Amino acid sequence: MKNRKPLMAANWKMNLSLDEARDLLAGIKGAAIDFDKVDVLVAPPFTTLQLARELLSGTDVFIAGQNMHWEAKGAFTGEISPLMLKEAGCTHVILGHSERRALFLETSETVNQKVEASIEAGLTPIVCIGETLEEREEEKTFDIIGAQLRESLKSKCQQGKLPEGLIMAYEPVWAIGTGKTATPEQAQEAHLFVRRWLKENVGHDTGEAIRILYGGSVRPENIKELMSQPDIDGALIGGASLRADSFLSIIRFYEG
Ligand code: PGA
Repeated sequence: MKNRKPLMAANWKMNLSLDEARDLLAGIKGAAIDFDKVDVLVAPPFTTLQLARELLSGTDVFIAGQNMHWEAKGAFTGEISPLMLKEAGCTHVILGHSERRALFLETSETVNQKVEASIEAGLTPIVCIGETLEEREEEKTFDIIGAQLRESLKSKCQQGKLPEGLIMAYEPVWAIGTGKTATPEQAQEAHLFVRRWLKENVGHDTGEAIRILYGGSVRPENIKELMSQPDIDGALIGGASLRADSFLSIIRFYEG
């Protein structure tokens, strides 16, 4: 029996107009969700954060940024700071998503700076790691995610200050937006690796407490089987989080 509360996190990426967002947020707000059984989070684009805060006020739904800079302020055109995310109503921030790593050349070193800055600002980071198809085929999966863990969490690990509330997301790159989900066994194997790494490097209790989300083509049809795995504590959902019906049916996996 897992003691960790499941978390279903919606990553909207660069999608939805304000009107579309309004409809989706209204659908989430109006739904019967048992917040004792599940935590729910939405990560809209920056320009939709204010609307999300307004429409979700009075609910238990958390709001996250999809990225941020590590500095508090300054000449960083196009960037957003931890404090700005907080002011916009965010409690969490997604860091090191594979699209950021692949398309915007983010490295685990910069993710590490962001992890440190987010924690110091009082935001909970959702730190993404995962291997490409090529890396999996070359049997490098655990080397890759091991290195991403070590480098992305470096500062807080060295300081002995990695918080239990930190959230990890294992997202095999080949499963994102492709309709190819990792099998529950493949996902569990990777999650167990992450959990063992955390226990060895951060401490048993923290490693046990940290939630590890699975991401990559999560759908209403596969969520139950994924959630039945001992080390899968929730999901980071892209495509299927853009419609209220599919996101809600993923959230309500607990209905059995
Ligand atoms: P997907 O995206 O559910 O559309 O595969 C997941 C993610 O990238 O977080």
